Amino acid sequence: MSRGKSLAFSLAIVLLAIGVLNSEALENGLKSMVYLSPKITLYPGSVSNKYYYDIEFPKGHIAIKSFNAEVVDEAGSPVSLQETYLHHWIALRYYNRKGVKNIKYNVNLGFLQSDFIVAGNAGICDSGLPQFFGLGSETRKTSTDVPDPYGIEVGNPLKVPAGYEENWMFNIHAIDTRGAVDAMGCTECRCDLYNVTEDEYGQPLKPNYLGGVNCCYDGTQCKVNSGLESTERNLYLKYTIKWVDWSDSIVPVQIFILDVTDSWEYTGIHDCLIEYDIEKSTNGVATNDFTNTRRSSVILPIDGDVVYAVAHQHCGGIGSALYGENGRVICSSDPIYGQGTSAGDEEGYIVGRSTCYPEPGSARILKGEALTVESNYSNKKSHTGVMGHFYILVADSSLGLNEPVQIHDELKELISLWGVAVFGLAICVAVLVACQKRNRNEDAYMPYCNLNTRYLI
Ligand SMILES: *[C@@H]1O[C@H](CO)[C@@H](O)[C@H](O)[C@H]1NC(C)=O
Ligand SMILES: *[C@@H]1O[C@H](CO)[C@@H](O)[C@H](O)[C@H]1NC(C)=O
Repeated sequence: MSRGKSLAFSLAIVLLAIGVLNSEALENGLKSMVYLSPKITLYPGSVSNKYYYDIEFPKGHIAIKSFNAEVVDEAGSPVSLQETYLHHWIALRYYNRKGVKNIKYNVNLGFLQSDFIVAGNAGICDSGLPQFFGLGSETRKTSTDVPDPYGIEVGNPLKVPAGYEENWMFNIHAIDTRGAVDAMGCTECRCDLYNVTEDEYGQPLKPNYLGGVNCCYDGTQCKVNSGLESTERNLYLKYTIKWVDWSDSIVPVQIFILDVTDSWEYTGIHDCLIEYDIEKSTNGVATNDFTNTRRSSVILPIDGDVVYAVAHQHCGGIGSALYGENGRVICSSDPIYGQGTSAGDEEGYIVGRSTCYPEPGSARILKGEALTVESNYSNKKSHTGVMGHFYILVADSSLGLNEPVQIHDELKELISLWGVAVFGLAICVAVLVACQKRNRNEDAYMPYCNLNTRYLI
């Protein structure tokens, strides 16, 4: 071995050792728990869209570091989206008056404020999207890790109103497409396939309402091939939460969910439709362009650093981005389409999404700055009930805690000590190993790793 090589090699070992020690120190406080939702019973073509109260959730004053989920059967095996389409799952925090049982959510009444209080995220839609966590079909291959030193603070006893307790609710919307005449049509909640003319509350649908959640509510039935045996199936949402006990070293982040249908820039109110439709292109062949682009602008009520961001789209989605007022890209989040039949790689379905982990301080947004959400869909075909959301975690800079993490200073010292080339090689190895390590624990960690590799080297 040449002197340079052996130096690089031993430095790599040293850095690896530091890396391992660091990650163990981090892992030390990290707790992880796997839970199952209540049982979801489905038949070919059936829909379950239920609310489950007081779900299992880690107790105490903690910082959530990740929240992953997938649909499994009674044997615990992952279920393919081609059999059970996971339209969405959301986890919502609420406070309920101590001693009050048998909570029943009534969409018309909302929560009876005296007994139940929704303790939602930081915004920004006036109604809808108050959840802390939630994804759809992309849940298996979308990283949800909150990077250090940040965390989503929950269970702070000082924030729970006196006489109340903090609990968590799931809304899980699953569509069984076994034997469906048009599985994609069922997943897009096309009203004709559900033979639905009234919504869940008996209100007639508008004549131009062709599809969306008003046609695939709980208990509806999508059209299946005749002569199909109606096999009942019990499924669960298996969810894995990672957290650490709360401490002063954790920087809290606020959750914002932005919606491309938000009317704020025209009306001054955050009227979010949650869903929208894509019309089939009439001039796509002539222009050789089958992109439907929708945009909306919003402002956030705080100054802060975006530390994690991911978009949410349905099938047909081809990309989504969040821009700052000067046009800079805060996050671009692309869908990952499956290519096979196994769970996590279902052809034709969005099975994952790239996420953004900006370096601390590099994605600062200002209070009052107009942010633009952009959602692109293919309009080769029409689509109903699609979504264009952006989920972002923002560290409030007024808290004055957003200094770059310690490691960067240590790295700078190392650079001056050993020279950039040697350092680069060692970091390559360290990052690779770290990524492999994470990949073993998590599905599809590559976006995170790619980003880290890019900004570390
Ligand atoms: C569709 O619904 C109508 C009434 O709402 C019912 O009479 C008809 O039989 C249904 N058709 C099918 C194919 O289920
Ligand atoms: C969306 O489509 C427009 C028009 O083709 C393009 O300029 C833009 O870069 C696309 N955005 C994303 C996030 O893919």
